[in-house]
Amino acid sequence: MNSQINVVILAAGLGTRMKSKRAKVLHRAGGLSLIEHVVQASSAISPADQTTIVVGHQAEHVRSLLAPSGVRFVEQTEQKGTGHALLACRESLASKTGFVVVLYGDCPLLSPATLSELVRRQTSGSAAATLITTRLQDPAGYGRIIMDAGNVRAIVEQKAATPEQLTIPIINSGIYCFQADLLWRHLPEIRPDNPAHEYYLTDIVEILNRAGHGVAAMEVENSAELLGINTRIELAEVDRIFRERKTRELMLAGVTIEKPETVTIDAQVCIGADSIVEPFAQILGNTEIGEESRIGACAIVSDSRLAANVEIAPFTHIVDSQIETGAHIGPYARLRGGAQIGANARIGNFVELKNTRFGAGAKANHLAYLGDADIGETTNIGAGTITCNYDGASKHRTQIGKDTFVGSNSTLVAPLEIGAGSYIGAGSVITDRVPAEALALGRARQVIKAGWAAKRKKKK
Ligand code: UD1
Ligand code: CA
Repeated sequence: MNSQINVVILAAGLGTRMKSKRAKVLHRAGGLSLIEHVVQASSAISPADQTTIVVGHQAEHVRSLLAPSGVRFVEQTEQKGTGHALLACRESLASKTGFVVVLYGDCPLLSPATLSELVRRQTSGSAAATLITTRLQDPAGYGRIIMDAGNVRAIVEQKAATPEQLTIPIINSGIYCFQADLLWRHLPEIRPDNPAHEYYLTDIVEILNRAGHGVAAMEVENSAELLGINTRIELAEVDRIFRERKTRELMLAGVTIEKPETVTIDAQVCIGADSIVEPFAQILGNTEIGEESRIGACAIVSDSRLAANVEIAPFTHIVDSQIETGAHIGPYARLRGGAQIGANARIGNFVELKNTRFGAGAKANHLAYLGDADIGETTNIGAGTITCNYDGASKHRTQIGKDTFVGSNSTLVAPLEIGAGSYIGAGSVITDRVPAEALALGRARQVIKAGWAAKRKKKK
């Protein structure tokens, strides 16, 4: 990495065209906020402590999101344009020599390779700056590039362009690499003399030309990489591109994805080879899945770790949980936070778990709620079993030993301990400790009244 490179990412704007209370750079695409994508790309050319984020709208949110990465922040209290935003960094960066790379926080698809190439061109050439351009079929909204004998003479913004300039298909991506001393010397010369009364950073090109310096263009063919987001329509388009990138990357690494255009897989997700993802599955956040697993149609798995050979049947919802090898979950199961499922365990339809350790080989095949519980290995939980973990004031744990048989429709009132190898009769309400190897029954004894129905019918 080149110690002479400082990166500045402009992220202070509200993004009026998003029609949102939330700052534009905090909107998400591909499972991360826009600004997180840009910071990730910039790490290819500069360490975090040489990266400055210009914050303004919702500065506190942006700061707390990015602070763990070690980047620096500068505040632009009033948003008077991109030139004004960069000027806010002059104090803290001006003494530095070398180069300054400027990125916009709303351009999240930029690849590290393109960024590295920009730096390579600028640092090996003699221009005052190099900027990334591309050709668009529909350049509306972008600044247009005015070329002059291979040199960039000016950038005209959409709002200030003449009808003739508006036909120029080459646009400004908003990604620049400047010689630091020339940038900081000339940046204060930008004036807000345009219809929007903004300080346009793009005016720096003409200013540098006037001072006798050349500005180079680096034209990039893959214009998708340079999409800037101004509206929710563009946000959806960029999200689609991120999702497609991710499914292609996984498929090339050996994961089968059925109808990949329907699945939603976040950027940070890892999936082992020979796993299968069925249509409409969503795999989100920091989720890791081992080899030869299957994620069923319409299942949602978020922030969870699944080992190899795990099967998640359709319509299952899993959050913040861990599942060991060979386990089978669903269909229609719900693992709320803190479920730990042992190897080869089975959780069936309409079973809900919260904060529960479920031992290896244990089974809860139908209709149960297991909250704040420890379930031993190979224990069988009958259909309709409910842990009563909440007494209206606090939560209590239910501990069930290994190899236990809990009959259907048991009501287990916590705090409760059920010893290993014991049996609970179906329909019991269990309130007291059950010793190991015992049978516990907590229900009314059945009564038979012989001939009762026949007598009743005669009376009528
Ligand atoms: C900008 C460029 C345009 C280019 C396009 C590429 C200017 C004047 N225009 O237009 O040539 O084609 O990007 O996507 O630069 N920001 C601040 N403070 C401000 C204003 C903006 O931090 O006072 C930040 C925004 O948060 C945003 C970025 O700068 O991340 C770009 O601002 P935006 O208003 O989206 O610029 P565009 O109109 O898209
Ligand atoms: Ca923009």
